[in-house]
Amino acid sequence: MEVTRSTGLRDGSTCLVRLTIPSDFPAIAALRDHIASAESTIADTGEPTTPSLLGFTIAALGQGGGVALTAVRNDKIAGNLLIERDPSPVKRHVAQFGVIVAPSCRSLGIGSLLIVQGEEWARSAGIRLLTLEVFESNTRACMLYERLGFHSDGVRRNYIIDAKGTHNVVLMSKELHPD
Ligand SMILES: CC(C)(COP(=O)(O)OP(=O)(O)OC[C@H]1O[C@@H](n2cnc3c(N)ncnc32)[C@H](O)[C@@H]1OP(=O)(O)O)[C@@H](O)C(=O)NCCC(=O)NCCS
Repeated sequence: MEVTRSTGLRDGSTCLVRLTIPSDFPAIAALRDHIASAESTIADTGEPTTPSLLGFTIAALGQGGGVALTAVRNDKIAGNLLIERDPSPVKRHVAQFGVIVAPSCRSLGIGSLLIVQGEEWARSAGIRLLTLEVFESNTRACMLYERLGFHSDGVRRNYIIDAKGTHNVVLMSKELHPD
């Protein structure tokens, strides 16, 4: 499927969503680390995401049948979505994703755009169940996922322990039907 697409945002600016390229790695790694350390929305491993480590992760994603998408607004990296396909031969129809948007670019629809476009890509790649894990305390993200048709499969209590504490994690999923 065609991945690159430009869309108008709520503030009148334009957002381009395209495949992630190596020159994106430093900005995405920095954004990921900033969010992990400044917020309690994603796990804070305490270890920096180097551009080369991110590149390795994204190359492995691609080899495993997944994809990485980047959102660009005003010529700057505004967000990133990673879709990782399950390697199990009996779960090749399953993929898990994670999404981040720069704090200055939130509430404009960029997170939704990344997810909707990732969903389209997943459907065209034969993925039939899209899953995610989200901190139970991340109510804004949970609401966004529910608005986009994801539902909760349950809560894993005390599943993540990071630099900020112990977190319950909501497992969410959405079935994708072929077009
Ligand atoms: C969760 C996250 C990715 C959402 O990104 P975002 O770009 O702000 O998401 P959107 O703008 O698409 O949607 C969020 C908000 O816009 C609203 N919205 C989006 N598009 C809209 C539209 N066309 N019309 C009206 N409202 C809209 C949503 O209802 C929601 O409302 P809120 O801002 O009042 O809460 C972002 O907040 C983030 O990166 N958080 C930190 C990391 C994180 O939590 N990642 C997910 C871990 S599982």
